[in-house]
Formats: sequence, C-alpha cells, structure tokens
Amino acid sequence: MENPEVVMMGLGYIGLPTAALIAKNKTKVLGVDVNPQVVETINAGKIHIVEPDLDTSVAAAVANGYLEAEIAPKKANTYLIVVPTPFKGKNEPDISFVQAATKAILPLLKEGDLYIIESTSPVGTTEKMRDLIYTERLDLEGKLHIAYCPERVLPGNVMYELVHNDRVIGGIDSESTEKAVDFYRKYVKGKLHETNARTAEMCKLVENSSRDVQIAFANELSLICDKASINVWELIDLANKHPRVNILRPGCGVGGHCIAVDPYFIVSDYPMESQLIGKAREINNYKAFWCAEKVKNAKLEFQLKHGKKPRIALMGLAFKPDIDDLRESPAKYIVQKVLQDANDEEYYIVEPNIEEHKIFKLTDYKEAVVIADLIVFLVAHKEFKNLIIDSGKDVLDFCGVLHQ
Ligand SMILES: NC(=O)c1ccc[n+]([C@@H]2O[C@H](COP(=O)([O-])OP(=O)(O)OC[C@H]3O[C@@H](n4cnc5c(N)ncnc54)[C@H](O)[C@@H]3O)[C@@H](O)[C@H]2O)c1
Repeated sequence: MENPEVVMMGLGYIGLPTAALIAKNKTKVLGVDVNPQVVETINAGKIHIVEPDLDTSVAAAVANGYLEAEIAPKKANTYLIVVPTPFKGKNEPDISFVQAATKAILPLLKEGDLYIIESTSPVGTTEKMRDLIYTERLDLEGKLHIAYCPERVLPGNVMYELVHNDRVIGGIDSESTEKAVDFYRKYVKGKLHETNARTAEMCKLVENSSRDVQIAFANELSLICDKASINVWELIDLANKHPRVNILRPGCGVGGHCIAVDPYFIVSDYPMESQLIGKAREINNYKAFWCAEKVKNAKLEFQLKHGKKPRIALMGLAFKPDIDDLRESPAKYIVQKVLQDANDEEYYIVEPNIEEHKIFKLTDYKEAVVIADLIVFLVAHKEFKNLIIDSGKDVLDFCGVLHQ
C-alpha cells in the first residue's frame, strides 16, 4: 500500500476489527502483523479469528483498497499499537511486544505524528515508550503526539461496541490528548473522555479489577454458606431485595484473558497498596481449587454409600456461559484436576459450544445427565437450564444454573 494514513501494529482480536472500522471510513490503513499467515489471510480478504460481521467488513475494506496487511510498517501519520501484553515469570506484565512494535516504527516517525497504545498496559507504559522513542529519535523530542486509549469491547459484539462504547483517552500532554480525541472522533459514536496517559492506563486495569473483586465477594459468600448450610443463591436473591445491595452470582472461579489477568498488572506494581485486589484474585483462584475438592469428596461419599464408583458428568469447560472460549477457564482447570485424581470412575465431559476438543472426549449434554450418577455443573450454559434431572442423582451446582 502506498501512503497509508494509519499503521495498525497487531492484527488480532482487537487490531483487525479496529483496522476494518477505520478503513470503512475511507482511511487507508496498513495492518502490520509479525505472523505471515495473518498477513496472507487478510490480503486474501479473509479473517483468522471468529467475530460476527468482521468477515464482511474485512473483505469489503480489502476489496476497496483501504486495508492491506504487511509484515513491516511503512510511513504514515498515525500509528496504533495493539499487540499482546501477556505475563512473564510470576504474574508480571510483559511489555516486550509493545516495545518491539514501537521499535519497528521508530525510523518511520516524523514531526506531528500521532502514536497511540491500545494494548492493556501497566501504568507508566506510555511514558516509557515516550522515553524510548525520544532516546532513539532525539531529533523528534517533544514533536510527536503520544497517547493511550484502552479497548473495552465484548468479544462477540466487537463491531458494534467499537463504534458505540465510550472511550477513555489520555495523552502524555494535553495536545496529545486532543490529537488522539480528534482521531477517534472520526470512527467512534460513543463519548470520548479526556484524561492523562497514566489515568487511562489505570482505568482499564481498574474496570476489570472492580469486576474481579465483586465476583470474589460472591465466591467468598458461597464458601461461607456451604459451611453454614445456607443456600447461597437464595441468600443472594434475598440480600439483593435491599434497594442498595447488588451482589453478583458466584461461580467456579474467574477466567478469560481480561478479568483473570488485568488485576495482576496492578498487584505486580503496587503489591502493598493493592491488598484487596490481590486477595480477590486469590479467592477467585481458590474457588476453582475448592470446587475440585468438592467433586473429590462427593465421589468418595457416593462410593461409601453405594459401594461402587460413580459415573460423573462434568458440565461445561468454557470460562463463562454460552461461549466456546476456554482461555484461563476455571471449569477447564477443575476438569483437569478431577481427572488427575481419577481412579477408574467413568467421566463424561460436556461442552455444548465446542464440537470436539483435542484432549477431552466430549459427550452430549442430554446423554451425560442420563448416564451419570453425579452431575457437576461448572458453567451456566443455556442448554443446562431446563434439563430434567432424575431426583436420585447427586448434583453439585457451582454456577447456580438450577437456581435461576
Ligand atoms: N481480545 C479482547 O477482548 C481484548 C479486550 C480489551 C483489550 N485487549 C488488549 O488488546 C491487546 C491486543 O489483544 P488481542 O486480543 O487483539 O491480541 P491477539 O493475540 O489476538 O493479537 C495480537 C496480534 O499482534 C501480533 N503481534 C505480536 N507482536 C507484534 C509486533 N511486534 N508487531 C506487529 N504485530 C505483532 C500477533 O501476531 C497477533 O496477531 C492486548 O493488550 C489485550 O490485553 C484485548
């Protein structure tokens, strides 16, 4: 592509839909990805990820000449960094991908360019990248616009939310913030909230930490209620009748690549100050371990009572209801843990959102509940809600699917 207006570094779940949206608005976008297969797929007008309506947007943008992919970046006016920010070591954020993408565009930068990080990043990353850029490009010191703008879309609804969600935009100075706001205004209908880079970085981390802490409270209640012989689902329904109380539902832990991950970006940098956030992570992780122990105990109790080993249905593998995503899934962890302790029992693993799994042999959900003596609900998938379960069976409902 000649003279792109925008360079998008990283063409994954966030970068590709964002590139397609910008291209739809007749802005020339050069998408850059280090994975040659991704580049090839996109240039063929196809997509390598599952996201509703993304295929038609990418196909149209490529056909109209507004989107093209390459391995290496070219000169543009705006650069977006949308690469992964995983962990290294023990729950420490790894910003080496952001650094690598920034280094790749360093020689291309010119006065007046706009550089935006969208990757979920620890506080101070935008300032670190500013320092990196100006150390290598002394000629440009103070002459670039540098900002951070986190992404908060829901997978499955990305094409809508990219346009309609509010965005938080923080520059390293007010001019950078304004420049970045002008950029997003062309594509986003949601409100654009201005702040500084550090606050914008923290805002993304806090959004997911807030959710994690609230789920941890519900999960802690489920542990207390189990010991106190109180039905936690009934308790929460009743407590929520208070006009100012809104307790979330417990589950078998917290999974996915955002809520189960982002709080560590705070805990790793502010360990003494983030006691509650750190504890919430511990509680949500512990809940999965606790569920696995409960299954083990239920198995032994059945054996003592009936003098035979139970057939066990493990219902759900995904990290939340009605999706096929198993990343950081507590249900998958529990299934693995239960299978590690297997002692010739028969197991029926169920995940209605997946056709097949390379490790687990999957069983149809209706079949599993008929065969099994012990039924363990791990994920509140819609298929499980109206199942008729024989009253003679033992049931462990960790996700409240039978208490809607
Ligand atoms: N997926 C989500 O729902 C979501 C939501 C909010 C925020 N985020 C954040 O957005 C960022 C990107 O996430 P994602 O889900 O799109 O990741 P992803 O793994 O789907 O895609 C990242 C892409 O970047 C490419 N890449 C890696 N290094 C590169 C480099 N140096 N130059 C160019 N390309 C490079 C990879 O090959 C990959 O295709 C992460 O920080 C993530 O935490 C993701």
